[in-house]
Amino acid sequence: MNSLVNKHILLGVTGGIAAYKSADLARRLRDAGAQVRVVMTRGATEFITPLTMQAVSGNPVHLHLLDPQAEAGMGHIALARWADAVLVAPASANFMAKLAHGLADDLLSTVCLACDAPIALAPAMNRQMWAHPATQANRHTLEARGVRLFGPGEGEQACGEVGLGRMTEPQHLVEMTAGLFEIGSLSGKQVMVTAGPTREALDAVRYISNRSSGKMGYAIAAAAVEAGATVTLVSGPVTASIVAGIPAHVSRIDVESAAQMYEAVMSRVSQCDIFIGAAAVADYRPQRVAASKIKKTHADINLALERTPDILASVAALRSTGQDAPFTVGFAAETDDLEAHAQAKRAAKALDMIAANWVGQPGTGFDSDENALTLFWEGGGMQLPQSSKEKLARQLIAIIAERVHVRN
Ligand code: C5P
Repeated sequence: MNSLVNKHILLGVTGGIAAYKSADLARRLRDAGAQVRVVMTRGATEFITPLTMQAVSGNPVHLHLLDPQAEAGMGHIALARWADAVLVAPASANFMAKLAHGLADDLLSTVCLACDAPIALAPAMNRQMWAHPATQANRHTLEARGVRLFGPGEGEQACGEVGLGRMTEPQHLVEMTAGLFEIGSLSGKQVMVTAGPTREALDAVRYISNRSSGKMGYAIAAAAVEAGATVTLVSGPVTASIVAGIPAHVSRIDVESAAQMYEAVMSRVSQCDIFIGAAAVADYRPQRVAASKIKKTHADINLALERTPDILASVAALRSTGQDAPFTVGFAAETDDLEAHAQAKRAAKALDMIAANWVGQPGTGFDSDENALTLFWEGGGMQLPQSSKEKLARQLIAIIAERVHVRN
């Protein structure tokens, strides 16, 4: 169940005895790879302490709407934007009524109103309260608006009665929350991604490289894991913070030079269904690598360079030799005439898809957190407007999954 990896889950806790299970739920969500932030209503704090929820979620708990300090940090709008999904567990009858009627008189109801991510409720209440026509009407209103109801279940209740109204068990809630994201699009697929720059040695201490941070390739690897794929990431040298962002489920092979990247890719590519070349591979390397440090005894110096192997083209070319080639996706960084150059590159390298981006645009490109892509494939294309590299990576993976299914 990789679809919760790196997902931002906003866990709302309302006032009900089942709130004691919310701590277990938060822990299980984190175990599944999600980042969890908790918003508690005043009623919830009567049943479980914010300190407990802070400890299990690993984040400060959010309690108040009109708290200037909280609003200066992660206020209600920031929380709503942060969430990839909202799960309210337990959801009391009162909270369902508030949400159904659009009230926004505390932090949780306000965040729900301000949020365009999927919202799921795990109702928990006495069976009579659940069966009451008011609650049932609210439930239908919410469902008609796309709010998902996870439960309630049947069984013995805290009040001693037996019937419908028990909160769905935390493990099951985790699975249902994962289901909100499961496009299932790449489940069972083997994906290989290259990322980062390469370094081409000049001598024992110097090298030629480029400004790629690896952020885009790492985000693509994470998005492929989220979509259910088994992912191998062949990475050039990137910073520790980029490496730290990658889900544990990705198997990473570190390389330095284009030749090493070529070797790492070509020795494993026969097992993969999809290859995404996001690395900024050096096109040239020094013809000779000096064994020791080159001394500055000359006024000037000439470097003789030779071409590196084109990894992406080599992967795509497997098909023409009758071997099994993966669905092959390349990147093209262009400074002018984006479509013509990208299409020409796609044809020249026999790629299934190319993702082109402008270089030198403010706020996008190599080191930035955002990018914008234009995709081209045989007979079609699509614009992915500027947004975070994580969001773009998820969109790209969803489109690749669609095209892979079309091809098969
Ligand atoms: O031809 P150009 O370098 O612009 O193509 C960029 C695409 O080709 C990227 O996807 C990059 O990862 C890939 N590439 C490669 N091996 C090279 C050069 C580029 O795989 N030696």
